[in-house]
Amino acid sequence: MVPDETDLIAARLEKENQQLREQLDRLNRERIEYLQNVAHQLVAPLNAIKWHIENLTEARVSVERGRKVLRSVYSQATLAVHLAKNFALMSNLEADHTLSALREPLQVVDLCKLLVNLADDFQPQGWDKNIQIIVKNHPLEKATDVLVMRPLVGQVFSNIIENATKYAKKSSDIVIEGVHNPTRDMVSVTVWNDGIPLAPADANRIFERGYRTQEAKNLYPAGTGFGLYIAKRIIALHEGEISASTDQRGRVGFTVTLSVRGLEGKAREQ
Ligand SMILES: Nc1ncnc2c1ncn2[C@@H]1O[C@H](COP(=O)(O)OP(=O)(O)O)[C@@H](O)[C@H]1O
Ligand SMILES: [Mg+2]
Repeated sequence: MVPDETDLIAARLEKENQQLREQLDRLNRERIEYLQNVAHQLVAPLNAIKWHIENLTEARVSVERGRKVLRSVYSQATLAVHLAKNFALMSNLEADHTLSALREPLQVVDLCKLLVNLADDFQPQGWDKNIQIIVKNHPLEKATDVLVMRPLVGQVFSNIIENATKYAKKSSDIVIEGVHNPTRDMVSVTVWNDGIPLAPADANRIFERGYRTQEAKNLYPAGTGFGLYIAKRIIALHEGEISASTDQRGRVGFTVTLSVRGLEGKAREQ
C-alpha cells in the first residue's frame, strides 16, 4: 500500500470517529435533558400532593373543603402515575427497539368501560379548567371485547386524554366517541378537544419522538413530547392506526383504529 493511501484511510476513519463521537454526545445530552424533564414534571405533582395533605392536617377543614382538597390530591396523583408509566414505557422502548419486551398476553377489553374509567381518572384535572369529559356510549358499547394488551392500550388513551385536558381551553368539552365497523372487524375511537390549534404540517410530526408544536411550547412549557410517540409505537404493535385531524369547528381530534380480533393467536409472536 502506498503511504498516500494509508493517510487517506486514516483521515476517513478519524472523520467517521469524530462523527460518531458527536452523535454519542448528542444522544447523551438528549437523554440527560429527558431525565431532567421527567424529574421536573414528577416533582410538581408530588409537591402539590404534599402541600394539599399539609392543608388537610393543619387547619380546621370543612367537609366540603376537605373533599375539594382530596379531589386535587387525586388529580395530581393521577398525573404522577401517568408520567411514571410513560417513563417506564419509554425506557423499554429505548432499550428494545423492536418493542418485543413490551409484549403481554392479549386480553378481552370492553373499550367503552376502559374509556369511561380513564375519563373518570382525568375528570378532576378537567375540573381545574372547568372542562367536562364526555364519553358517548352509543354506538361504542356495541364494539366491546376488543382483543388487546390492556395496560398498553390504556396508556395510549391516557396519553391522548391527558393531552386533551392539557391543551384544551378553559370551559370547553372533551368528547370521546367511537364507531364499530363489523364488516372490517375494526373499532375506531376519537377524542375531540377545543384548544390550541394543530397545523396540518404538524399533524404527522407530533408522533415523532420529542416533537412539540410551537403553540404547545409557548403555552405549556412542561412536556417531553414523548406521549404520542409512545402511543404510535403501541398502536403499531397492535397493527392499528393513530392519527390527528382538525374538524370544521377547529376542534382537534385523535383517532385510534384497532382491529377487534385481528391479533388473535399473535400475542407472543416476535
Ligand atoms: N389535543 C391536542 N391539541 C393540540 N395539539 C396537541 C394535542 N395533543 C398533542 N398535541 C401536540 O402534540 C405534541 C406532542 O404531544 P405529546 O407527545 O403528548 O408530548 P407533550 O404533551 O409532552 O408535549 C404536543 O406538544 C402538542 O404540540
Ligand atoms: Mg402529552
